[in-house]
Amino acid sequence: MKIWKLGLILLLLLGCSSKKEIPFNTKEITVYQQNDFNLDQLIEGDASHFACAPIDFSQPGQQNITCHDSTQEYKDTTLKVTVVDQMAPEIKLTHSRIQLPIGSTYHLEQYIDQAIDEVDGDLTQQVTYVDTINAQKAGTYEVIYTVSDRSGNTGSASLVVDITTFYDEYFDASVLKPEMVEDPNDIHVLVNKTHALSSDYEPKDLTLVYQSQDVYLRQEAAQAYKEFVLAANQQGITVIPFSGYRSYSLQTRLYHNYLDRNGPLYTVSLSAYPGRSEHQLGLAIDISDTWNDPLNASLGQRALGQFIKNEAYRFGFILRYQKDTTAITNYAYEPWHIRYVGKEMAKEIHDRQITLEQYYE
Ligand code: DAL
Ligand code: ZN
Repeated sequence: MKIWKLGLILLLLLGCSSKKEIPFNTKEITVYQQNDFNLDQLIEGDASHFACAPIDFSQPGQQNITCHDSTQEYKDTTLKVTVVDQMAPEIKLTHSRIQLPIGSTYHLEQYIDQAIDEVDGDLTQQVTYVDTINAQKAGTYEVIYTVSDRSGNTGSASLVVDITTFYDEYFDASVLKPEMVEDPNDIHVLVNKTHALSSDYEPKDLTLVYQSQDVYLRQEAAQAYKEFVLAANQQGITVIPFSGYRSYSLQTRLYHNYLDRNGPLYTVSLSAYPGRSEHQLGLAIDISDTWNDPLNASLGQRALGQFIKNEAYRFGFILRYQKDTTAITNYAYEPWHIRYVGKEMAKEIHDRQITLEQYYE
């Protein structure tokens, strides 16, 4: 080989090795998430001409990441990056609360929808739970589902299981532990077989409703009711109010009267257990167009029934127990029972064709 050639190679080698590494503050870093890695924080001054290979966040542990200087002033430099996964997997269940008949067999794995981890992906098959249910004993149980990812982060989800007596598709709510309503004065609240008011709750602004001697609603609902009646009357429809606000003690008497006179199927399909009635909110009212068997399913086919179904939302009321929503509300069809929720929410519920329960899902 010619001397000048050797000299050239030597010069090149010298030239390369004389380049310095990119002056990072540190070459060992720990990152937890995609947005934790910021080159600017690793270097004094302008970092815009440096670029690093992507970090593989799906691989917790140490990785060598090579960084490059586009101006060629510095040579390629390697960072030791430790990826730490701190994100817990998320479990989605098909339900948050279910009711099962006393003595039934059940399969808790069927309520697992999926478990997804940002790093490890689908962990649905690894979800476990502890069965705390005694299906022979009525009551409310909680089942906790858990799953851990490869880095030991654990996610959990809870399923509330009510074991109770069923009469046809209607369950007895008296034996289960309800969720207590947080703010009973909020006109939007959900009250049903599993969401209860305390026995001493009574609204402070009860107002006698239009054209009645003994039916009360909260003031805002009473005003809306009056507008509703006037609009119905303009279409030649008569509206008679039968039952508005009911105290806890009145609901208790009603419920037990129904039990004594009509039996459990009738009672649990049409009458709320004390503390679980929207009538105690002063926001629900039962109406009809006749004194003759007023609260009957046939109302749904008459002009008032249609007016309720199609127009009540314009005044802030919803038809609470519709013909085909028994599976959701667990009450029979009650074309006479309307609930005030305010115009905005009533419109949304009407337009989306849902129940109050589904609004809160
Ligand atoms: N009829 C409804 C469910 C009530 O008693 O509140
Ligand atoms: Zn009612």
